[in-house]
Amino acid sequence: MDGRPQRDAAARRSERMNADGNGREAISARIRELGPWFHNMDIGGVWTAPEHFLGNYPFIKWRKFAGSIPEDLTGKTVLDIGCNAGFYSIEMKRRGASRVLGIDFDDRYLSQARFAADATGISVEFRKMSVYEIGALRERFDIVLFMGVLYHLRHPLLALDLLREHVVGDLLVFQSMQRGSPDLVDLDGDYDFRRADIFEDPRYPKLHFVEHRYAGDPTNWWLPNRCCAEAMLRSAGFAIHGHPEEEVYFCGLAERPHGVAIPSLPMGVPA
Ligand SMILES: C[S@@+](CC[C@H](N)C(=O)[O-])C[C@H]1O[C@@H](n2cnc3c(N)ncnc32)[C@H](O)[C@@H]1O
Repeated sequence: MDGRPQRDAAARRSERMNADGNGREAISARIRELGPWFHNMDIGGVWTAPEHFLGNYPFIKWRKFAGSIPEDLTGKTVLDIGCNAGFYSIEMKRRGASRVLGIDFDDRYLSQARFAADATGISVEFRKMSVYEIGALRERFDIVLFMGVLYHLRHPLLALDLLREHVVGDLLVFQSMQRGSPDLVDLDGDYDFRRADIFEDPRYPKLHFVEHRYAGDPTNWWLPNRCCAEAMLRSAGFAIHGHPEEEVYFCGLAERPHGVAIPSLPMGVPA
C-alpha cells in the first residue's frame, strides 16, 4: 500500500487544523493530553516541547547530520528503533523512503508519534516493540536509526549484536550520549596480564555504569566515552564510515570480530 489516500486525508486534516483557531486549540489540547514530550515538533503551528532542556530538540542535532543522509530516499526502507514521537521517522518519510517503521516500547511515545505523523499528513507505521525483539521482524532495512537508545539499555552490547544479526541491511545511523574523554587512543590488540596502567588512561574504552540516576533519569544505565562507543560498534561487526556529529556515527556492515556468538533470546529479557 503506498498510503497515498491516507496521506492526502491526513494532509487535508492538517491543513484544516492549521487554518482555524478551533483546530489549533484541538491540537494544543491533544498535545497536552499526550505529554510530556521529548521531541519538540511543530504540529499544526503548535510546538510539543517548547521548554525542552536541550533546546529545540532533536532538530538541533538533526541539522548537524541531515546533510550527510541522501536527500532522496526513494525506494529505501527505514527502521527507527526507539522512535519516540517520530521526529526522525517523519524526516525519513519526508525524504521519500518507501517504508518507514518506527518501533518503541513505550505506549505514550507511540501515541505521540501516531498523532504527529497523522496530523502532519505523513504515513509511517509505528509498532510497539523492544529492541530486544527485533529478530521477530525477519527483515533487513536499508537504513536503521539507533539514536539515543544505547545508554537506556541494561544490555547495550546485546542490542548492537541483535541489530547486526537481524535488521541492518546497509546503513546504521547510531547516536549515543557520551561522557568521559572525547579523545581517541591507539591500543594494542593485547596486553600482558601485569599491565594495568592502560586502564588509568581516560581515553581507554570506558562504559560508565549508573546505578541510580543520571540527569534525574533512572533509565540512563551505561554512558560510554568516545573510544568505547566506537569500540562497541566495531566489536558488534560494524565499520564506521562517517562521524558527522560528535555523537553520531554512520556505519556499514563488517565481519564480526572473534566470532561473536549471538545468543538466542530467552523470554523476558529486561528492557
Ligand atoms: C532518548 S529517547 C531517543 C529518541 C529518538 N530516537 C531520538 O534520538 O531523539 C530514547 C527512546 O528509546 C526508547 N527505548 C528505550 N529502551 C527501549 C527498548 N528496550 N526498546 C525500544 N525502545 C526503547 C524510549 O522509549 C525512548 O523513546
